[in-house]
Amino acid sequence: MTAQIIDGKAFAAEVREKVAGHVSRLKQEHGITPGLAVVLVGEDPASQVYVRNKGKQTIEVGMSSFEHKLPAETSQEELLELLDRLNADPQIHGILVQLPLPSHVDEELVINRIDPDKDVDGFHISNVGRLATGQKSMVPCTPLGCLMMLRDQRGSLSGLDAVVIGRSNIVGKPMAQLLLGDSCTVTIAHSRTRGLPEVVRRADVVVAAVGRPGFVRGEWIKPGATVIDVGINRIEAPEKGTNDDGSVKTRLVGDVDFDGAVQVAGAITPVPGGVGPMTIACLLANTVTACCRANGLDEPEGLTA
Ligand code: GUN
Repeated sequence: MTAQIIDGKAFAAEVREKVAGHVSRLKQEHGITPGLAVVLVGEDPASQVYVRNKGKQTIEVGMSSFEHKLPAETSQEELLELLDRLNADPQIHGILVQLPLPSHVDEELVINRIDPDKDVDGFHISNVGRLATGQKSMVPCTPLGCLMMLRDQRGSLSGLDAVVIGRSNIVGKPMAQLLLGDSCTVTIAHSRTRGLPEVVRRADVVVAAVGRPGFVRGEWIKPGATVIDVGINRIEAPEKGTNDDGSVKTRLVGDVDFDGAVQVAGAITPVPGGVGPMTIACLLANTVTACCRANGLDEPEGLTA
């Protein structure tokens, strides 16, 4: 039997629809329009694409989008001053500073200057601490998206064995905290873990976020397990031929050997079209959550951890 393929694109569209419903109610019943400010420093092409997509989707769900595109030479002081203004602006409920920042800027200092209640990335040290201690927090978007897909797939996660492969601050660590919050027995594995195949073989839930193409082998997966692949790796695909400039065409693959894992898993996210589309959807969800909290209103159901 082959695994169910989890359609992240469709799931993200459902999340955006829910967000749009909440936005519409906030406007009609309370006269409040949730606002998201995105700050981009410099001209990194990948970051420009992300920021454009974030702005577009923010407007599509009916929220206000405030884009601040600053030159690469912007000083740290100028950036901090902008954040102070955004923190104080009641029309703005969420603030995101696109990473990476130019090397002359202290990323940690910048992230921790954002009002934690407007920190829709969930990277502020206060939010990291709140999540770790089970308090209400803003939760990083990618792990939140993974959690939503897992809950949808499995219902209750209570008592399940979960392994998170990868220990980054953006995905691995918050993912482990969220799974622990849902009463999983959690193992955080990484590139130095000994006997990784055996560790993965015990897991009902596998979240792969190591950044290595096809690292998690199909034969490691426990039959029926739910596999969430966070990896987005570009590899050469000679079977697709060459580009006009003679270079070999490429394709995106995850951290999981999809063709192997799909034979054993109960459900699996594809790459592309799995976790990827959920990240911006969860950013929008976090902005609505932040807006509701800022105004003392009930939080949107199903959109938080
Ligand atoms: N750059 C790549 N991913 C992210 C993200 O999730 N948040 C921010 N702020 N920057 C990023």
